[in-house]
Amino acid sequence: MDFQLTEEQLAVQAAARDFAQSELWAGVIERDEHQKFPAEQIKKMGELGFLGMMVSPEYGGGGMDTVSYVLAMEEISKVDASCSVIMSVNNSLVCWGLEKYGTEEQKQKYLTKLTTGEIIGAFALSEPEAGSDATSQSTTAEDKGDHYLLNGTKNWITNGSSASVYLVIAQTDPEKKHRGINALIVEKDMPGFVVGPKENKLGIRGSDTHSLMFTDVKVPKENRIGEDGFGFKFAMQVLAGGRIGIAAQALGIASGAYELSLKYSKERKAFGVPISQHQAIQFKLADMATNIDAARLLCLQAAHDKDAHQDYAKSGAMAKLFASKTAMDTAVEAVQVHGGYGFVKEFHVERLMRDAKITQIYEGTSEIQKIVISREILK
Ligand code: CAA
Ligand code: FAD
Repeated sequence: MDFQLTEEQLAVQAAARDFAQSELWAGVIERDEHQKFPAEQIKKMGELGFLGMMVSPEYGGGGMDTVSYVLAMEEISKVDASCSVIMSVNNSLVCWGLEKYGTEEQKQKYLTKLTTGEIIGAFALSEPEAGSDATSQSTTAEDKGDHYLLNGTKNWITNGSSASVYLVIAQTDPEKKHRGINALIVEKDMPGFVVGPKENKLGIRGSDTHSLMFTDVKVPKENRIGEDGFGFKFAMQVLAGGRIGIAAQALGIASGAYELSLKYSKERKAFGVPISQHQAIQFKLADMATNIDAARLLCLQAAHDKDAHQDYAKSGAMAKLFASKTAMDTAVEAVQVHGGYGFVKEFHVERLMRDAKITQIYEGTSEIQKIVISREILK
């Protein structure tokens, strides 16, 4: 692996950093407080090319590599993890999945708008009774010849109300178990599709998480992604890449918390000296910096594997497992470094601590990442 970033990668990193500092920082506390979806900010991210980074320019994308995507995700997540989860779902689950497995018609119809942010997408796998155990799908897509009849409920869907296009995973042939599952492109205005109420969350409060209800929704056959029965493999494939994005999100949250702690520790005085001169604080900073560097290397390794067309399911799961723990540990210690000030909203670290937790849950919990890793190393 080449540790030297290219000029293009450095430029993407700098552009994402500038954007996050100039456009996201100012309103982030208010958006978190009021669970306000960052509509304006997401529109700008689309205009700047952050929503379809890895898609070919032929479909309006940036044609960038996964390393660039990781660098951008880290910078956006340092400031606003709500914006970065919206970005991550659109980029690595929806756009990547459609470009890799969609038909030319599907790409022309949906992908060209998703890459520019004209519309945003959602990915709907989880259900009230099927999260980690993702093959136990209750949502059904009955084959009716020229269309599927979609029935069921999806839970916890990011971009739930703000998306226009949803990639919905559903069971067509229960006898075939996971090999009888399909992935369907569902449009928001299809009759019988209802978006449920918004979840009131601990963290990433600017992103909109909803349940989705489908009652006899007619989805044309041409909206199926891949061959009949490919839906579960499709979900696993996109999630393998998605986990690299969430690992980078966790890395960003950790880096954000660390940078704020470093700065604060040099400013805040206790017992006549800046608290950075107390060894207890120095050791916290040393642990943070070490874990963040290790997490970054794992993220870059996974991104490199994907770019080099090598297997990345294991390296992506390792990156997510380690970076999400680093995000949680770092953010908790960042609050400690800030003392009482860390416990109030103006200092940002309490929000980063709340945001960090979700990175250990979505796109496969930490326990699921250990299942993925252990299966890979034992096979
Ligand atoms: N690529 C391709 N196929 C894969 C794969 C991969 N990386 N991983 C598994 N598969 C295939 C297997 O080969 C198998 O197919 P065959 O039998 O045809 O070979 C099929 O998938 C089933 O695999 P398993 O037998 O291993 O299935 P399992 O029931 O033991 O579960 C699991 C495997 C890894 C636990 C899986 O269910 C899983 O990943 N669960 C977590 C679900 C998840 O991550 N949800 C995230 C929702 S999206 C989200 O969260 C977005 C967000 O927040 C922003
Ligand atoms: P469960 O699967 O019920 O797990 C509960 C606990 O049991 C966890 O600790 C888990 O690790 C553990 N556990 C389960 N099985 C095992 C096992 N075999 N071995 C060891 N431990 C196990 N889903 C989507 O499809 N699309 C989205 O856009 C999306 N966005 C989300 C946004 C938010 C804010 C949230 C909270 C969730 C989102 N999800 C989304 C769902 C998310 O992926 C699931 O919550 C996650 O996969 C866990 O599923 P679960 O909540 O059903 O927990």
